[in-house]
Amino acid sequence: MALARSRRMAEGERVDKPGNIVERARAKINLTLSVVGRRADGYHELRSLVVFADVGDTVTLQLGSSPNVSVAGPFGADITGRNLVAEALAKLGQREPRLQLGSVEIEKNLPVAAGLGGGSADAAALLRAIRRANPENADTFDWIGFAAELGSDVPVCFVNRPSLMWGRGEKVLPLTSLPSLAAVLANPGVPVPADKTTQVFRRLSAPPIPETLPDPEPPPSITRAEDAIAYARAHTNDLAEPARDVIPACREVEAALASCDGCQLARISGAGPTCFGLFLSTEAAQAAAQQLSRSHPNWWVRSVTLG
Ligand code: C5P
Repeated sequence: MALARSRRMAEGERVDKPGNIVERARAKINLTLSVVGRRADGYHELRSLVVFADVGDTVTLQLGSSPNVSVAGPFGADITGRNLVAEALAKLGQREPRLQLGSVEIEKNLPVAAGLGGGSADAAALLRAIRRANPENADTFDWIGFAAELGSDVPVCFVNRPSLMWGRGEKVLPLTSLPSLAAVLANPGVPVPADKTTQVFRRLSAPPIPETLPDPEPPPSITRAEDAIAYARAHTNDLAEPARDVIPACREVEAALASCDGCQLARISGAGPTCFGLFLSTEAAQAAAQQLSRSHPNWWVRSVTLG
């Protein structure tokens, strides 16, 4: 499968043509992430409250064209090695030859290997585009099961709504009552090891757990932003400490976010290094993003709404 690089494309630039299916691959944020233990298969049993930001990549499926994947956008050149979208396309073609596929263009607006689930969100967006293109298979194919084969974050990105995620990541319960949250995302732009997530998980000394566990209780119904922030504060990201060890720049980003006026909570998302700060208003988040962009011009900083 060819992985071509097309010209650099400005963020947001997009040309929709007939026959194209466009899906947004939004940044994934782990508001909370607790590690219950190490499973017999080597993966870790998680409980995570996941939300999505209103920034992301764009995945365009051009139906009927040969199944190539091309990458454009501000961070397109940073994708090296494994491309989950190319993997998803190739595997799906073998698994379900009846599915109508095509070529894929990824507009990469999110930093890569950032803890924002970018590659997973792109693969999940492709699956949603293919499901839309194949309505007769929409209900007969196990999209979530296939998503889980691609990676632990792909199922929740496929659902693309605030969710409780558990198991290795393959179990997802969409939550209807979570309010939108004003936030700032900040990424230090430092190089990260290709196997960053594996390194972060390896540093945990999580206890072995039984093969079957009861499903977790869903979080309480939360309707006010203040309560969502209080819920996030009362829980942790268990990957934060190992993430700081693997990528020391995480500490500086968390501290810079925490020092912004009005920041209610600053935390690493997933295995980092992107951190998020929660605010009580969009204005406060925008002011903080401006302040951070001025003081750290090399960081990727965005004021966003999480939901
Ligand atoms: O599933 P995915 O390929 O995204 O996982 C990357 C790595 O992160 C795995 O190889 C594993 O080391 C670690 N991981 C884990 N437990 C999870 C998810 C990921 O140990 N629930």
